[in-house]
Amino acid sequence: MITRRSFVAASAGLAMSALAAIPGHAQETVKVGLILPMTGPFASTGRQVEAGVRTYMAMHGDTVAGKKIELVVRDDASTADQTRRIAQELVVNEGVNVLGGFGLTPLALAVAPVINQAKIPAVVMAAATSSITEQSDYYVRSSFTLPQASVPVGTWAAENGLKRVVTLVSDYGPGIDAETWFTKEFTAKGGEIVEAVRVPLQNPDFAPYLQRVRDADPDAIFVFLPSGVGSLFMKQFADRGLAEAGIKLIATGDVTDDDLLNDMGQPALGAITGHHYSAAHDSPENKAYVEAFKSAHNGMRPNFMSVGGYDGMHLIYAALEKTGGDATGEALIEAMKGLSWTSPRGPITIDPQTRDIVQNIYMREVKEADGELYNVEFATYEAVKDPAKAEASGQ
Ligand code: PHB
Repeated sequence: MITRRSFVAASAGLAMSALAAIPGHAQETVKVGLILPMTGPFASTGRQVEAGVRTYMAMHGDTVAGKKIELVVRDDASTADQTRRIAQELVVNEGVNVLGGFGLTPLALAVAPVINQAKIPAVVMAAATSSITEQSDYYVRSSFTLPQASVPVGTWAAENGLKRVVTLVSDYGPGIDAETWFTKEFTAKGGEIVEAVRVPLQNPDFAPYLQRVRDADPDAIFVFLPSGVGSLFMKQFADRGLAEAGIKLIATGDVTDDDLLNDMGQPALGAITGHHYSAAHDSPENKAYVEAFKSAHNGMRPNFMSVGGYDGMHLIYAALEKTGGDATGEALIEAMKGLSWTSPRGPITIDPQTRDIVQNIYMREVKEADGELYNVEFATYEAVKDPAKAEASGQ
């Protein structure tokens, strides 16, 4: 049925799309450019973040403050040169109002010159090295930081009888952050680091390192590896017999990623991790999220990367609501500072000083329930700020 109202709206829509091409005229569409690794070894991150973003739009519609949200998704294949080139292209040719995504730290860092020049926000939905948000005033983060996740694991380890620990991390930004902040906390509380192992980011083979860890005979091994690599690690951990040797596995939740956890099988059982999101988080918001996500994505289970996408999209929507639809970069970034909401992961806030996320970090244990493996939360560290920033600002 064509009502008068829909006819007027349709005509106005036509007129507006013609006018939108005229510079200086108010835009009716807000364009969000997502740059993600959709191919290559980190494609699971791209797939999860995009699915989180699309789930948000499916649950909350594609119109906010009178503006239609248009998503443009591009694959950078985990190559920083590509990320920068695509960002430039999205700004210049597509006229995007906001950039988002960024599956690895070097990819997020690559867009700093572009966002500084264009003065538009870049919502970091995945990458998690603390210092990223210090490299431009236009970064804002909806994922997490490695210091934020690693300090609670250090506290827990020291308070639960672990004395001698080997650290094993990927040798780049987030791995160094995890090693540094776990070590700081664990040793301040009386623990000892027996050995600190760094493995290459690309094509890691853990076997020789794990042999060294076994020989050092620690109480536990603390691990950070980026999302997607955990299954290979878990297999080699089991093959080398570390669990039988009584070496406990503690890690950030990147290692027991919900997307891969079921494939890891028995060797993952009992692993203790600290992180901001578990698909098993018990809240009405998370139940609704997991259900919507799975039903729209062939039963795929959402992991922590997906929730970075989901909340990153909320950040954009809530900022647009606050500005009354003003999508200029300065207005959006200002509006994002200090926003608080209840995410599927729990309560979160964007720190107005650092543009980084403040959130609960949960301690979890891998357990079996209904024939599936889950990260089951058993303790909560509330409203954790990125400790690296808290130190820098003397807090
Ligand atoms: C990063 O490169 O910043 C990164 C990637 C994957 C993770 C965490 C951090 O799971």
